[in-house]
Amino acid sequence: MKVSSASDLLTLGIETSCDETGVCVLKGRKVLAEALASSAPLHSRYGGVVPEMASRDHLEKILGLLDRALTKARVRPAELDLVAATGGPGLLGSLLVGTSAAKALALSLNKPLVFVDHVLAHAYTGAWLLGEGIFPFVALVVSGGHTVLFHWRTLNDVRVIGRTTDDAAGEAFDKTAKLLGLNYPGGPEIERLARKGNPAAYRFPRPRMDEDNYDFSFSGLKTSVFYRVRDLSAHGTLPPSVKRDLAASFQEAACDVLCAKAIGAARRKGVRTLVVGGGVSVNRRLRDLLVERSGGLRVVFPTNELCVDNAVMTAALGQAMVRSSRRRSSRRPLDFKAYSDFFKTFCCPSSGKSYKISPSS
Ligand code: KG4
Ligand code: ZN
Repeated sequence: MKVSSASDLLTLGIETSCDETGVCVLKGRKVLAEALASSAPLHSRYGGVVPEMASRDHLEKILGLLDRALTKARVRPAELDLVAATGGPGLLGSLLVGTSAAKALALSLNKPLVFVDHVLAHAYTGAWLLGEGIFPFVALVVSGGHTVLFHWRTLNDVRVIGRTTDDAAGEAFDKTAKLLGLNYPGGPEIERLARKGNPAAYRFPRPRMDEDNYDFSFSGLKTSVFYRVRDLSAHGTLPPSVKRDLAASFQEAACDVLCAKAIGAARRKGVRTLVVGGGVSVNRRLRDLLVERSGGLRVVFPTNELCVDNAVMTAALGQAMVRSSRRRSSRRPLDFKAYSDFFKTFCCPSSGKSYKISPSS
């Protein structure tokens, strides 16, 4: 099996962990082509992703997107050096579509395959954009399914130092949006409404903010919004101005906690760089607060397109995994298994919470 110089591997990335179908062709740090489709409009009125609808949509779109990306990149499948697919965590039915396509391609073309962890890929995006000099750094990943703090010391040494103990930040945005009668995905809707609201109108709790650890909790915040909405709507529908204030006050509480924990972690770990990633990191208020409170820290924000789900981050981490491995992986395409749960697979049970990103491990 031929593998060319690891730094400029011609890599096909495939991402299908949730409701975005993403395919990209990467050559080293250059994106040759990207093709993306979303089933979000199908889920909009349900207040969250409907797994069965998401997997069917991936199935309908994946081959067309593969074709479009390869054509746009002017790359023949046989020219690829590596296939990198999101292996998990995510919706299993969705993951199976992308991983099966990746396995079929790798097998039929006799190309190496890597499965990439989706949460880790969100955390790695900023490092990929800035280059090797960025290590060590702390990364905050805030998405619909996960809220995690990583301490990334060298390419091959990354640890989970904090996580949510219940809901993810994006889940709290989505559920709060549903309480306010807004559509899925709720994050952008809350942000839009909050722009004209008063963030000090309601004082919502900041769970775990003053604890001496890096863990988060968002279910209490969401429940607090629920009771407030229930009380306020006891005498009729909520006026738009009240909805705006509720959205702004909720957003302020969520961003306050995220900032405190992420900046606190970066300080205590003694790193100079904080990287953010995941759909919630698109939020303007979160970005402004992080910059405002960063002190001397450098805060790295990937573009909005690279913060939400995409295949570029999958291909970028896939390439890095191959580069970091000292020996060629002996795993064959059919040995890889998609997985739904981040913490069972990411954390190395014997050593606590460290992880080697090399594909041979
Ligand atoms: O990373 P992502 O695209 O998919 C997952 O891996 O989950 O994140 C999606 C999450 C959703 O919960 C969505 O509501 C949230 O990111 N989100 C936002 C914003 N844009 C997307 N949350 C707050 N503010 C936004 N502007
Ligand atoms: Zn994601």
